[in-house]
Amino acid sequence: MVDVILGLQWGDEGKGKIVDYFAPHYDVITRFQGGPNAGHTLYIEGKKIVLHQIPSGIFHTNNINLIGGGVVLDVITLKKECETVIAFGIDVHKKLYISNRAHLIIPTHIALDKAAEAIRGKEKIGSTLKGIAPAYMDKMGRSGLRMGDIHHKDFDKQYQLLRTKHLKQLENLHYTENINQLEEAFLESIEFARKLPVVNSAYFLNKYITKGKKILAEGAQGTMLDIDFGTFPFVTSSNTITASVCTGLGIAPNKINEVIGVTKAYCTRVGGGPFPTELNDGIGEKLRTIGNEFGSTTNRPRRCGWLDLVALKYACMLNGISKVVMTKIDVLDNFQQLQVCTDYKIDDTITKEMPYNINNIPITPIYKNLDGWDKKLSTCTTTKQLPEGAKKYIQYIEQYLKIPITYLSNGVMKEQIIRL
Ligand code: GDP
Ligand code: IMO
Ligand code: MG
Repeated sequence: MVDVILGLQWGDEGKGKIVDYFAPHYDVITRFQGGPNAGHTLYIEGKKIVLHQIPSGIFHTNNINLIGGGVVLDVITLKKECETVIAFGIDVHKKLYISNRAHLIIPTHIALDKAAEAIRGKEKIGSTLKGIAPAYMDKMGRSGLRMGDIHHKDFDKQYQLLRTKHLKQLENLHYTENINQLEEAFLESIEFARKLPVVNSAYFLNKYITKGKKILAEGAQGTMLDIDFGTFPFVTSSNTITASVCTGLGIAPNKINEVIGVTKAYCTRVGGGPFPTELNDGIGEKLRTIGNEFGSTTNRPRRCGWLDLVALKYACMLNGISKVVMTKIDVLDNFQQLQVCTDYKIDDTITKEMPYNINNIPITPIYKNLDGWDKKLSTCTTTKQLPEGAKKYIQYIEQYLKIPITYLSNGVMKEQIIRL
């Protein structure tokens, strides 16, 4: 069976830490979508590691990790990341598998991403500039290169064809960039990737399922960045929801067991786009400082705001969430009053429903006030030790969602997690 851990907000919910925490209970950890736009933070032997392409189970001894077919793969990032992992004594050639269906991000995809953002000007998406949208566009446009292709004798020819198409597109967009250095690194990294195990991943995973092995699918980004159900067009270019586990891995829907959703105790968003509960004031600044809210991939300051229960409930519905893990509750220490958004007021209508478009629409969030607490949550290790304020905060959210919060993360380290 396959369990899923994915993000319920705009990404960076702490998925990496949570996957690392649960990984010992699984035989295979696998990414099913997204690419190096993801940045999943783990602490291994006290050292901070940010993974962009490799699943967050790689540091455990009793499992294997798979980069699934729905992922777009930047081999330059992959090589660097493998080197980091190898330095911890992990044999990537035995532990890391890559789907032959994963599409490649090539250097000109990155240039095209930059060109597209430059053209949008003030309306830019705030892309991570990792070439995600152009790579998925080539996949859907049926012209992309896949990981399996790197072993074929005509790979160089196919690569030149795609590269030439991109260079023409860049010329039409009047965008010039010297990609020589990046291309050199790309070709070197392709050589490295040729030595990693590439598998026909649908058969590979289904054989594990038939043998009764346990698989954990690790989401990237978050539900509100989903291409279909997020805050379009300010989204990423893949489906980030549970449905994507099936198409990204070649797994039938009836093989999906539990879907665990990860949310912060408040909200953040990095990049452009609507954010109804954003706090452009001292409170937002305080959340950013205490929560160290700076992008794991781009180091940009993350926009911060109160927890948005309208968006969270919508995300739980889309994903079929059975359990919620709440992270970064410790960041809310030192706030006397907390707020959570329960409804949106749009013109004269009050609703609990996420509209199809929330760009440039004046949404007034309606808040419920809740008391804070004056205890350092990072020191708590059991439910009993939690202050009354924190218990009430959690209870209120559970009642609103009608889904239990089963784990509470109260610090960056793996050990800092309370089973509720
Ligand atoms: P991901 O993309 O969902 O894996 O999340 P990121 O790694 O991009 O961002 C989460 C950030 O919060 C990282 O810097 C983590 O080290 C940190 N973090 C995770 N859980 C907690 C927590 O419970 N408390 C605090 N204070 N930080 C946390
Ligand atoms: P993890 O897996 C937070 C955001 C970008 C931008 C938009 C589109 O670490 O949670 P893209 O590069 O995909 O074309 O950017 O999506 N974004 C993320 N924000 N966490 C992520 O991943 C993200 N991946 C993309 O900032 O607004
Ligand atoms: Mg992240």
